[in-house]
Amino acid sequence: MLTENKINEIKERTDIVEIISESVTLKKAGVNFKGLCPFHSEKTPSFTVSPAKQIFYCFGCGVGGDVFSFLEKYHGITFSQAAEELANRYGITISKKPLTKQQKIELTEQEKIFTINEKTSSLFCQNLLKNQEGQKALNYLIKRGITKETINVFKLGFALDSWDYTFKYLLKNSNDTNIILKAGLIKKSDKSNKLYDRFRNRIIFPIFDVKNKIIGFGGRVLDDSMPKYLNSPETPLYSKSHSLYGLNFAYQHIIKENKAYIVEGYFDQIALYQHNIKNVVATLGTALTSFHIRRLKVITKNIILVYDADNAGIEAAKRSVPIFIQENIEAKIVILPKGEDPDSYIFKLGEDNFRDFAKKQAINLFEFLVQHATDKYSLSINGKLAIIEELLPIIVSIKEEIKKSLYIKYLSEVLNIKESALREKIGKNSKTNKSVKQKKIISDWDKVEEKIVVMMLNFQEILDEIEKHDIVNMFEHPVLKDIAKKILENRGKDLIQKVDEEEKRGIINSFFLKDEKWNLLGAKKLLNQFILNFEKKRNLQLLKDIKEAQDSGDKKLLMELLAKQRDKHLNK
Ligand code: UTP
Ligand code: MN
Repeated sequence: MLTENKINEIKERTDIVEIISESVTLKKAGVNFKGLCPFHSEKTPSFTVSPAKQIFYCFGCGVGGDVFSFLEKYHGITFSQAAEELANRYGITISKKPLTKQQKIELTEQEKIFTINEKTSSLFCQNLLKNQEGQKALNYLIKRGITKETINVFKLGFALDSWDYTFKYLLKNSNDTNIILKAGLIKKSDKSNKLYDRFRNRIIFPIFDVKNKIIGFGGRVLDDSMPKYLNSPETPLYSKSHSLYGLNFAYQHIIKENKAYIVEGYFDQIALYQHNIKNVVATLGTALTSFHIRRLKVITKNIILVYDADNAGIEAAKRSVPIFIQENIEAKIVILPKGEDPDSYIFKLGEDNFRDFAKKQAINLFEFLVQHATDKYSLSINGKLAIIEELLPIIVSIKEEIKKSLYIKYLSEVLNIKESALREKIGKNSKTNKSVKQKKIISDWDKVEEKIVVMMLNFQEILDEIEKHDIVNMFEHPVLKDIAKKILENRGKDLIQKVDEEEKRGIINSFFLKDEKWNLLGAKKLLNQFILNFEKKRNLQLLKDIKEAQDSGDKKLLMELLAKQRDKHLNK
């Protein structure tokens, strides 16, 4: 763990403009720098970097933060990895906090498994390229059109047809059987308790993390035997619901093209990559999860599923819809011609045709579902009812009102049903929808409150005054109130890191960059105005409450309210 001091030291030594300039071309614009946002596609620059505040913010897509969060997002690394990288660059030594015993065990365990994976991968590569027995595997790959270069890039390998070749090899370097078991490379026989190699007589695909370290393996048979593919089990490094195959290779390309293709298999990913379509990842025989989408959505919002036309492909697409809705991503889908998968398609038709096809055929995932449902149920009365049954729950779960409206409109047009009828049914289906309210709050706050928060961020000298008059407690807007409280608590320091919600971080960043000039006199004037307004509003409310209490005959309440009013007059 990094200490706060170290983080500050790193921050002091780094210049956000210098770091970001390595990845984004920046031009001076007033006190700030501007460039084309690397996190979304744009033609005019709205990506802003402030050297004075050492933060960045994109007015186009709302992504922002400090130098750490830039590196995290841009390279898909963790906070501590970003900190380490900066520390290394500036020659700052990070003395690590003493780890707990458990942490130490886990860390060394992970490191050991990384080492084992690395060694095993080398062995597999050697088997494929140097071992006589690997020749058949190499032939298989070549027959499928995989080039030597691709084999090297993806470190493809071969596990020999043996029960213990890998195990024995690993035992030469270590006698820690337990850790080899944990790495998922050997299995224990249920009957005899004997240990044997998990991957035998299979082409091997190492699975990498974004830092190009091997976290697991997949293996394909050379013939029709079953199972066709075998993957590493869940290990301390590998979890299938979290990993996207090929993300390490695709990462920069996804950012550059601002688009990610998701395919289903190893060969699909590799085949597209070999044909120069490099912004592609694979899910490896598991349903798409929120974790997968979250990995991608920090680098692009344009996600396109490329699936086979078979039932499995369509079912997979269906199951992914709620995940995309939950993550608020408008995904598209390309269904390939019958009998093709991305691998077979690209080898037959090539890069340009694939790009063309994807461009023409990609449709919104929801539209696809509607079309698919109409094919399945037909547009008879019963068919329409079935379609509505199937699709309404999806519409209900959509958070954004605009999107929801568009979906309702689309469905009503396809089914030739009145929008209002659909809406009514939706109203009955959804009891609560908090997230919709949350979205609405965003911009409807009081401008004076906003101005005060902007001032608090940019003119720290005013913070004592704000505290003295307890201004923050007079705030009406919960989001601004919360941000203001955090500013006071932290005195504006490292604020972004103290705020968990992405949305609030966005607001803070955008406020940060509202460069307004303040002086103490003007600032106090604004506060006085605000206090006066607050008093006025409170008095009006009190009068209203008193009237209500009178009307309803609630004597006790009335007495209380009148006492309150008296106190106020006395205080004046
Ligand atoms: P597919 O059955 O579509 O195979 O499985 P594929 O990718 O087209 O493979 P090739 O072209 O015949 O070699 C898609 C993905 O599902 C996972 C694998 O990750 C595979 O790439 N899978 C499939 C398994 O994990 N186990 C299996 O038995 C089959
Ligand atoms: Mn295939």
